[in-house]
Amino acid sequence: MAVAIERLGMKGKQDEKVTPMKVREKPGAFLRDIEEIRRRARQHIERGAVTEGYKADREAVIGILNEALATELVCVLRYKRHHYMASGIHAQAVADEFLEHAEEEQKHADLIAERITQLDGEPNFSPEGLQMRSHSEYVEGNSLVDMIREDLVAERIAIDSYSEIIRYLGNDDPTSRRVMEEILANEEEHAEELKTLLQSIATDEAQFTNLPRSGRSS
Ligand SMILES: [Fe+2]
Ligand SMILES: [Fe+2]
Repeated sequence: MAVAIERLGMKGKQDEKVTPMKVREKPGAFLRDIEEIRRRARQHIERGAVTEGYKADREAVIGILNEALATELVCVLRYKRHHYMASGIHAQAVADEFLEHAEEEQKHADLIAERITQLDGEPNFSPEGLQMRSHSEYVEGNSLVDMIREDLVAERIAIDSYSEIIRYLGNDDPTSRRVMEEILANEEEHAEELKTLLQSIATDEAQFTNLPRSGRSS
């Protein structure tokens, strides 16, 4: 290993003495490219992960990511509310599902906030205007079915807007795109789970309605 590092010229002072292996084998374009990349990396070192090769409109991406962050924060709040309300009406299985979603939305919010700071931006956690920045809404819902339906609507809005963001990012910011793709896949799972919950509640209700009167508990 030490030998390999030495030969790649990565061991401090060895740089001057040892010709990097790759360069010695393939002189030409690669050498110029790698030197240029190193030069640019040193030039704006204080900008962290944002290099001059970054092709997207950084300010626009930060703005879009802050909207996605607001969307996630509103989802956390809505799922938390639904979790406690469902617990109150003894629908424990659904309440557990809401809590799991709330925790996953919080993870999404953290991933997005982290990416914003990597882009030298500031994640907006301000409660002021949160609902305005968010793509999905905070709807409380009056019944268990209402709550699930509202969550499904919010997930579908997130799926649509995140797909749009992913298309916008394209190849200009592949790291932000990957973050959003990972989150999108999780939102699709959420939507699927909520759909299954709605269907199972509808089935239960249908079974209850079809029971002979003597078989119903009053
Ligand atoms: Fe989310
Ligand atoms: Fe979600």
